[in-house]
Amino acid sequence: MFRSVLAVLIVVFFIACEKESAGPQYNFEVPAYFPVKYYNAPFNAKQFELGRKLFYDPILSENNTISCGSCHQQSGAFAHIDHRVSHGINGLVGTRNAPPMFNLAWMPAFMWDGGINHIETMPLAPITNPVEMDLPMATAIARLNASAEYKALVKDAFGANTITDYHLFKAFAMFMANIVSGNSRYDQYMQGKTTALTPDEIAGKNLFMDKCATCHRPPLFTDFSYRNNGLDSIFTDDTGRNHITQLQEDMGKFKVPTLRNVALSYPYMHNGRTETLEDVLDHYSNGIKQSPTLDPALQNGIALSPIEKANILAFLNALTDDDFVNNPAYAEP
Ligand code: HEC
Ligand code: HEC
Repeated sequence: MFRSVLAVLIVVFFIACEKESAGPQYNFEVPAYFPVKYYNAPFNAKQFELGRKLFYDPILSENNTISCGSCHQQSGAFAHIDHRVSHGINGLVGTRNAPPMFNLAWMPAFMWDGGINHIETMPLAPITNPVEMDLPMATAIARLNASAEYKALVKDAFGANTITDYHLFKAFAMFMANIVSGNSRYDQYMQGKTTALTPDEIAGKNLFMDKCATCHRPPLFTDFSYRNNGLDSIFTDDTGRNHITQLQEDMGKFKVPTLRNVALSYPYMHNGRTETLEDVLDHYSNGIKQSPTLDPALQNGIALSPIEKANILAFLNALTDDDFVNNPAYAEP
């Protein structure tokens, strides 16, 4: 009797808290200076937990070996660390580097070329992609319906007796949209803790604002535009945004990636060609390749002295959010 009353009280407490934030057991704090979210479904803990379980479950791959979490690793800010391009089912390799995965609720379009424009349909591509998880959606849904555990979880989260695509997509979206990173030392500095950054990092921040922020715009460190940052002069392997729009003017343009947690998400660029942040800075200072779609801001490269490079590098390292990569709410359940 006492236990059930206590349980009811706890539930009431959680419901009361949910109005304000995700609830006391979840720490997804969003800094006040973040913009309005692009995707803003009200938080639902059961759907979030279902999405988290699915994210780490290889049941969604043809031979039960690969989960989303195989390529999107929390310790690497949910990028595929140490892999130039991602390795999927049977060791097959894709053509692109798995991007980090956080603050997706603010992202208007997904993939390096923006080819997917809704967070709720996002999982369709990796689940069905022959070099990623290689499972037809109908098979995925049949497998989930054959699992007593998933049936119970979906019943609990959505009140439904039969699992459909809708439940899978909504649960994934609830998990992905609540992966938030906003507590780096840069953020602490922005919130008034002036000692959170060292003088070198502050110098790096000022250089960054001057030379990099037009594209990597704070506070999300991307303006979500598609740009050609001078990696190539011809685009035979991957035409980037042009692959989606077919426009000549989009040739070789890729979505500007966020630089939050960038020290963790190596290697870099859409095809993982750049190993280190030092190499990235060398690219901008003396590796820019000319082509008709090269961004006007990079026509002459970005001149950087060794000291300036060191300061920018220090600043990029201050964008690491340890709370986020260690947040138990995002780990494999
Ligand atoms: C085999 C490795 C692999 C697996 C498994 C995988 N992904 Fe990815 N993911 C990638 C790659 C590579 C990209 C970039 C693809 C592109 O740009 O064309 C990507 C892109 C994404 C993005 C877009 C991020 C952005 O910044 O635009 C999201 C979100 C995502 N994946 C979620 C998932 C989910 C959810 C699953 C499981 C259903 C999953 N991924 C499974 C490799 C993988
Ligand atoms: C004209 C826009 C633009 C400017 C200016 C710019 N970048 Fe970029 N940056 C991009 C684009 C676009 C990409 C992705 C290119 C690709 O993968 O094809 C990128 C990629 C990166 C990456 C790799 C991130 C990852 O996850 O792979 C880093 C690091 C980076 N830029 C740092 C900087 C720094 C530091 C500066 C200033 C010195 C800077 N950028 C200036 C557009 C820009």
